[in-house]
Amino acid sequence: MPVSPARAAAFRILVRIESTDAYASELLHSDTFAKLDPRDHGLLTELVMGVLRWRSVVDERIAEHAAQPPARLDLEVLTALRLGAYQLLFLDRVPAHAAVNESVELIKQARKRSAAGVVNAVLRRIASARAPSASPRKDAGSPPLGAGLSHPRWLVERWARNYGLPLAHAICAYDQVTPKTAIRVAAPALRDELEGQGIQLRAGRLLAKALVIEAGDITATEAFRARRLFIQDEASQLVALLVGHGSSILDCCAAPGGKTRILAEENPGSTIIAMELHAHRGLLLKERVPSAAVRVIAADARQIPLAKKFDRVLVDAPCSGTGTLARNPEIKWRLKREDIRRLQSYQLEILQAALEIAAPGGRLVYSTCSLEPEENAAVVERALTSTGSFRVLDCRTELERLKLGGELTAGDLGSLVSGPYLRTLPGAHSCDGFFAAILEKQPG
Ligand SMILES: C[S@@+](CC[C@H](N)C(=O)[O-])C[C@H]1O[C@@H](n2cnc3c(N)ncnc32)[C@H](O)[C@@H]1O
Repeated sequence: MPVSPARAAAFRILVRIESTDAYASELLHSDTFAKLDPRDHGLLTELVMGVLRWRSVVDERIAEHAAQPPARLDLEVLTALRLGAYQLLFLDRVPAHAAVNESVELIKQARKRSAAGVVNAVLRRIASARAPSASPRKDAGSPPLGAGLSHPRWLVERWARNYGLPLAHAICAYDQVTPKTAIRVAAPALRDELEGQGIQLRAGRLLAKALVIEAGDITATEAFRARRLFIQDEASQLVALLVGHGSSILDCCAAPGGKTRILAEENPGSTIIAMELHAHRGLLLKERVPSAAVRVIAADARQIPLAKKFDRVLVDAPCSGTGTLARNPEIKWRLKREDIRRLQSYQLEILQAALEIAAPGGRLVYSTCSLEPEENAAVVERALTSTGSFRVLDCRTELERLKLGGELTAGDLGSLVSGPYLRTLPGAHSCDGFFAAILEKQPG
């Protein structure tokens, strides 16, 4: 029996994610899978993201009906079970026999024929245990009542400690639903063009140049292919705007270049250096941000190989990414408690090096898409203990400047700040969770 292209691709991607450090969103948009027919690609995305978002809930059901706990199952067997169980539990429109039979076929095609009986039996038990009234099957994305938060407990506990229980719940709920796609549109005429092509848009919640896709495939438009618009979360766009204006700008951790692009757009005539540790990611950045004003260099921001000082520096540091779990659900299963401290040391090294390269009177923005205070305020505070020549600026003042200039449309600026810092929270705001601090170097 043939397996549908979407399920075959979902199986390959899920096995790859569990066995390497690959990201689901990158694999889904890679050349291999992007060429699938749009309907197949839609189902593929739903299967991959759904399994990753609800992995612990799906595994609980597998554990109830399998002889062995999920952790002891062979990866291919577990993946075929997760795919089948996710469809049975969450997707009303998939017939149970298709969910079961295709998972059985997948395991045969993975040359694990001997496990076909187990996959068949476990999925059939899960299917028949679904009492109609207690069934968690709903439209994909809506959290099933009582099915748990599907986040590692240690992470939820940490958010409850840092933000309070209601916000911790709001973050989890936000992570379990497909987030809206936001774009930045510099030319207003582009909106009409996109709407003329059937893309339904609404204004962004935070920014004047941000639009949110309500319906339609933005990646199929000519404007997207010609790089006249970029998909970028509003909070990420806002961080780039906080950098402000300067004649020489260094973007220390720049790939894939979302923020570099905005820096170039907002600072015509400035010299911008985009630094990136990984050369292949630097090349991707150059492709995405072809502006002649942007020079890309492959270098380690912990040892910046530049003698010149910059009047604007952006450190968008590598981080745990816990503010982006709605888009990158695999992160929550990979991240370990101890990773947070390791990341903090790395971020501190980068920030300390970047402080050295800011010109007198210049500004540095330190940002992450992490919700963890250790990666955010703690890094800034520790970096500043070793230098007396910087002060932390109040982000609210910058937000007011952006509002006056018409760039920022958000109503309640108070909700966007925590102390002097920018702090967006998924669930509290309709965007990723970003942190940013603005540091100013004393004039020389
Ligand atoms: C959070 S991402 C940056 C996102 C980017 N600013 C944007 O808006 O598209 C962090 C980037 O820093 C890079 N990176 C990691 N360690 C680095 C280092 N020591 N020096 C420079 N770049 C580094 C990573 O490869 C990654 O591309």
